[in-house]
Amino acid sequence: QIISLFFKSQKRMFAGNAIAPIKNWAVDGKITLTVGIDIGGSGLRIRLVNHMKPEEIVDLPHVKAQSTEECVQVFKNLIETIHEVAGQFESKGAALALAGPIKDGVCLLTNWPGEPQDRTIKIVDLPNEICPHDKTVFLNDLEAGAYGVIAADDQKIIGTLFEQLWSHVASKGKIVSDSRTAVLAMGSGLGAALILKSPMLDDPLVLPTELGHMQIPVVCKEDPTCKEEYELIQHISNHYYDGKQTPEFEDIASGRGLCLAYQFFVKKNQNKVLPVDQINAGQVAEQARQGDKTAKQALTWHYKVFMRSAKAVATSLVCDSVILALDNQVKNAWFVNAIADQLHDEFYNFIRPDWMNGIRVYAQSKVLNFNLLGTAYVAEQ
Ligand code: BGC
Repeated sequence: QIISLFFKSQKRMFAGNAIAPIKNWAVDGKITLTVGIDIGGSGLRIRLVNHMKPEEIVDLPHVKAQSTEECVQVFKNLIETIHEVAGQFESKGAALALAGPIKDGVCLLTNWPGEPQDRTIKIVDLPNEICPHDKTVFLNDLEAGAYGVIAADDQKIIGTLFEQLWSHVASKGKIVSDSRTAVLAMGSGLGAALILKSPMLDDPLVLPTELGHMQIPVVCKEDPTCKEEYELIQHISNHYYDGKQTPEFEDIASGRGLCLAYQFFVKKNQNKVLPVDQINAGQVAEQARQGDKTAKQALTWHYKVFMRSAKAVATSLVCDSVILALDNQVKNAWFVNAIADQLHDEFYNFIRPDWMNGIRVYAQSKVLNFNLLGTAYVAEQ
């Protein structure tokens, strides 16, 4: 009963004005479209693109879905609603952005709750009418984000979407470099992808990675903040790894990581243990904005570890541009600016200093869903 009410309410949402504009896309009575879908931790964002005039798009309101079954239901519901509102249509292709490694059209999502079988999506299980199996691709979410960056570069709007950090250190240059660019995003997970341009390639190549899961390289004992770092790292390791292994970057540089770092600083400052499931990452950021010292300490380490991961990615993949994407980056820009000097030192202080020379770092400065832009771009190819 509850489930059917849930889907009924979705149906109303889709059946509203949102889909109606696609009626105008019909040519000789038939609508042809492509579909970009960003599957996030809490649900789906769907973009319909008029295949005959790709500059015409319709973005549907965010729909909740946190399991494969719910996702498939949303797609079925969408198909039905398009038929009701606009008539016949043909999907010429779809691209979906998903968090997690992708192999042979299968992804085990890392940002949904539940058992692996509830979090595993296969192209072949999606309704063919909206996601034609031979013309549907799964992209890792950062892979999609990197294609979004490429699309924004093609559309010549990229300069309005990012701001260079520490432009006094690295001179100005292209945001998407002519060689290698790393794109990183810190949200419910920590994602990283590489954009490679080369005279040997006709188009930029995007390489999805799982580098957010690398273990954190810790400092040594002469580092001025090593004591705090060791204690924090141990706290995180106690939580996840029985205190035995070094945590991964994502264990601090992510939503759940911020919560755990906050738990650590509350314990350190007030000798109180807050259950981590009662801590909300957005709330911690908000408390920091209001001047709360403990929240600021947690947010500082969250960003320090993010910059450390960016340094590891940029140096190991030989990038000369690093793009920090995601709307969170825009929301927390005030904080990044406030601790810009610390973050500068975290990024540029490397055991091979000459490797850091000239690496440009950009932070997203306007809200835009690059994953959705990227999926729509790929679905149209
Ligand atoms: C996943 C990556 C994803 C990242 C950002 C990680 O937990 O393993 O595939 O790109 O989160 O969502």
